Amino acid sequence: MNEKQITPANPIQTSYETIEVRPLSQAVGAEIHGVDLAKGVPAKQLSEIRQVFRDQGVIFFRDQKLTEEQHIAFAEQWGKINVNRFFKPTDTHPIIAEVRKEPYQKTNIGGSWHTDHSYDQIPAMGSILVAREVPDYGGDTLFASMYAAYESLSDGLQQTLDGLRAIHSSRHSFGTYAYATQEEADDVGTRLGNPQQATQDANHPVVIRHPLSGRKALYVNPDFTVRFDGWTVEESKPLLDHLYEHAARPEHTCRFQWRKNSVAMWDNRATWHCAVNDYQGQARLMHRITVEGVALE
Ligand code: SIN
Repeated sequence: MNEKQITPANPIQTSYETIEVRPLSQAVGAEIHGVDLAKGVPAKQLSEIRQVFRDQGVIFFRDQKLTEEQHIAFAEQWGKINVNRFFKPTDTHPIIAEVRKEPYQKTNIGGSWHTDHSYDQIPAMGSILVAREVPDYGGDTLFASMYAAYESLSDGLQQTLDGLRAIHSSRHSFGTYAYATQEEADDVGTRLGNPQQATQDANHPVVIRHPLSGRKALYVNPDFTVRFDGWTVEESKPLLDHLYEHAARPEHTCRFQWRKNSVAMWDNRATWHCAVNDYQGQARLMHRITVEGVALE
């Protein structure tokens, strides 16, 4: 028995004045009902939504018919927009990134566990994804709680990790040599670009004190973390692999099934996500806006 049973730091709060909250799992994620994002969220409702976002790490809304301008306006209620330099933007708004897969494309974007922008020294706070086109089946997104991942480690490993920092990079994911074969590069096509801008390396604590909740969270991820600071890649791999397997345990996760006009907003410092690539031959199109964050301690 080497795993601690975790209970949430606080019981999940579901009773609010202006919204209805339906948790997706004990560890992470909640659907919020009673909100019309297109109208602009009033202050009291926004403060309750912020509370759920802080506690659950990722929030979901259904049946939101948002124009691109309304998507931007909602994002601006959370902070300054961070323009992603690698994703192809929509034709009309350079600050909205497309997460697209056409029926003839094999690879999807974001199809392995990661948290966005950890390769930046000041990583983005979160992303707001709007479902524009969804497949008839498949194409769900998985989320994992990095609070649960940290809190369920042994005291000994927690203490070891508390003193470590890690190096994160965009080079191997978005850089010139990101693809193993020309076929893979052709399949990704113009969905991702600007490989010359994949020069960012960042150094973050392995365990962060979350800027909104004050709780400790594990802050390494399979896509962008390269090694522990002061360790070689080879030395880092066994412990990183252990942490990745542990963090992705089913009880730390939830799974969101998209419908057209669903919206998800996740906290990059408290969660990982993974877009499941199980809808070959069908199209899926999401619009993503990313909101700036703060340096992590
Ligand atoms: C992403 O990784 O930002 C995309 C997630 C998704 O398409 O579900």
